[in-house]
Amino acid sequence: MTKYYGAKKALEDTTLRCPKKDFTAVLGPPGAGKTTLLRCAAGLDRPTSGTVSIAGQNITDMNEAALDVLRSERVSYVFSSRNLLPSLTVAENLTLPLRLTKRSAPPSLVIDLVRRAGLSEHLDSMPTDLCQSRQQLVAVVRAMITSPAVILADDPARGLDPRSAGEVLDLLASYVREHDGNVLLASHDPMVAAYADQTVLLKSGRVVREPGFPAGKAALERAVHLAVWEARDPF
Ligand SMILES: Nc1ncnc2c1ncn2[C@@H]1O[C@H](COP(=O)(O)OP(=O)(O)O)[C@@H](O)[C@H]1O
Ligand SMILES: [Mg+2]
Repeated sequence: MTKYYGAKKALEDTTLRCPKKDFTAVLGPPGAGKTTLLRCAAGLDRPTSGTVSIAGQNITDMNEAALDVLRSERVSYVFSSRNLLPSLTVAENLTLPLRLTKRSAPPSLVIDLVRRAGLSEHLDSMPTDLCQSRQQLVAVVRAMITSPAVILADDPARGLDPRSAGEVLDLLASYVREHDGNVLLASHDPMVAAYADQTVLLKSGRVVREPGFPAGKAALERAVHLAVWEARDPF
C-alpha cells in the first residue's frame, strides 16, 4: 500500500503479509512509517492506494460503520502510552471492550490472562496506583480479552526497563503461541525481533529488507551485535 499525508509520502508500495498464528515485528527508525502502517492495518486510517485484508476480509472499502464493528470485534490496538481510563479500576479497564460490545469472554480465559500478566492482586486498584509496566500489561490483556484476529501493537514496550519490556512482549507472544492469534508489532528497538516469527525493516516508508531478516534467537544475536558495533544507527 501507499499512504500520503498531503504531499508527504509516509508509505511507499509497502507490502506485508502475516500468515496465521504469526508474530511480525516491523522495525525502523522514527519517521519510518511504522505507526502509519499499523493505523492503516487497523482500519484507523485509509491507505491512499492499495488494500488491507484482515482474516481474508478486504477492509479497504468498508464504510465507517463496518470498520467500527471490525475494530471492536476483530482487531485490538496497543499504544505506547498506556491509554487506560483513570476513573475505572483495573478489572473494569480490562473488561471494557467486552462491555462496550455487550459480549462476554470465557471466565477461564480471563482468569488465565490475569494470572499470566501478574495482575491477580491488582484487579481492584486504580491504573495510576500501578507502575508503568503493569499499566501496559493491563492494556495488553485488554487487547487479548476479546480474542481478536490480530493485535496491532505500536511500540508497546517503549520507555520500559528491559525486564518489564520482556514481560509485555512475552504476554503478546503468548497470544500467538497459545491462543493462535496474530500480532503485528512496530518498534524502533531491534531487541523485539527476538520475540518475532518474521521481522520487516521499514525505512522512509519502504521495506528495505524483505522477510528473511532473522527472527528469534538469530535476531537477538544480530541485535546485540548491532547494538555493540553500530550503536549510532542500527538500521
Ligand atoms: N497525520 C500526519 N500528517 C502529516 N504527516 C504525518 C502524519 N502522520 C505521520 N506523518 C509523517 O509520516 C511519516 C511516517 O510517520 P510515522 O508513521 O509516525 O513513523 P514512525 O511510527 O515510524 O515513527 C513521518 O515523516 C511523519 O512525519
Ligand atoms: Mg510511530
